[in-house]
Amino acid sequence: MAALGRRGRAAGALLRRAPAPGAAPRRHRHKEKWAATAPRIPATRLALHHFDASYSLHLGALWPSVRAGLLCEQKYGALLNNFAAADHVPEELELLDATDFISEASLKMQQWQRGAAVGEAASGCQEGSGEGRTGMQAEMVTQAEMSPPLCASISSKIKCYTFPRGDITRFRPARPDGLGLLDYYLMDAASLLPVLALNVQPDDFVLDLCAAPGGKTLALLQTGFCGHLAANDVSVSRTKRLYQILHSYVPREVGDTVSVTSYDGRDWDQVKGGTFHKVLVDVPCTTDRHSAMEEDNNIFHKRRTKERQMLPMLQLQLLMAGILAARPGGAVVYSTCSLSPLQNECVVERALDVARAQFNISLHTEDLSHFRTLFQDTFSFFSDCQLGELVLPHLTANFGPMYFCKLRRV
Ligand SMILES: C[S@@+](CC[C@H](N)C(=O)[O-])C[C@H]1O[C@@H](n2cnc3c(N)ncnc32)[C@H](O)[C@@H]1O
Repeated sequence: MAALGRRGRAAGALLRRAPAPGAAPRRHRHKEKWAATAPRIPATRLALHHFDASYSLHLGALWPSVRAGLLCEQKYGALLNNFAAADHVPEELELLDATDFISEASLKMQQWQRGAAVGEAASGCQEGSGEGRTGMQAEMVTQAEMSPPLCASISSKIKCYTFPRGDITRFRPARPDGLGLLDYYLMDAASLLPVLALNVQPDDFVLDLCAAPGGKTLALLQTGFCGHLAANDVSVSRTKRLYQILHSYVPREVGDTVSVTSYDGRDWDQVKGGTFHKVLVDVPCTTDRHSAMEEDNNIFHKRRTKERQMLPMLQLQLLMAGILAARPGGAVVYSTCSLSPLQNECVVERALDVARAQFNISLHTEDLSHFRTLFQDTFSFFSDCQLGELVLPHLTANFGPMYFCKLRRV
């Protein structure tokens, strides 16, 4: 260095000031600027880190395939609009190889019941009835015996078309009929399972506590059974989307049976407690598919950490409000679109405890395991869910995640 002398040192300085084209600038000269513009970790990446850590434990060997599903295009179902003049639509969709997964399950159900009757008649002719059944007959009888509640729920008028497993055809956009009502609503078909689980009966008073943007509200209306439907959502802007859906899909006289409100659902008890036959509590959650794929409105953004951590508490409060809104004997379905047991089973367990300890309300959870059997051609279910049912995303059936659990006030 000494050999360079003053000129040598100045040249060295010049070299430093003017780096060769393409060479990286020296960091220390712009240190503050570099620090200020350092890229933030994208929320989607944070979400995936979080999911990798927790879901690999929860789902074990299933997690890599569920992860792949979350990161690929989701599949949709076309919920037929019974209020539109769209009789040609089923035929149009069937030509494309789509089928109504709900009536297919209903058919399956009837076959089981017929099989069960035959099985019982056959076994009645033999001594020691159970031993005389073939394996198939025994399965049919078991399925039929555990499914009576489903008989009613899937005989409802809800129709939803999906393409077969492995078929990723997209539906065309919805079209209006002569009166301007759209012929179908595109949604994650797994979102219908909580509605089916609710099993709305004629003239039921129904509460949809977190209703916007309104896919499940629309499905509830498709049953044609709601005596009255209260659709609530705390977000005024999202409630506007709910109004738009009602306007685009439902005739005015049906829309008049729906009351749309924007209360904080946690306060619902102060408005109308203990009056509803059926309550849907479709809570805000980490919306895992969205969080893994979209930066916009992502709950894994650093600034929303507190909000995310508080979700299970909010979910518990909303579920408690739903339970208090149901009349004795009434049913509550809790649902999320997350895989997280902390937002799913744990919230339900806590709610059962709180209802008993603080409100002296007893609830029982209804077995929905027959959903797994009936809808296995359409959805991939998690077979180890401790409480309720969980639809897992899968590359061949890329619906969900969707968790749902049914409680009944006794
Ligand atoms: C999963 S989304 C509901 C989706 C809707 N059920 C559907 O099928 O279209 C959860 C909703 O809960 C609403 N929400 C959040 N906090 C709430 C609260 N305290 N009371 C009522 N709704 C709330 C959000 O605005 C959001 O629209």
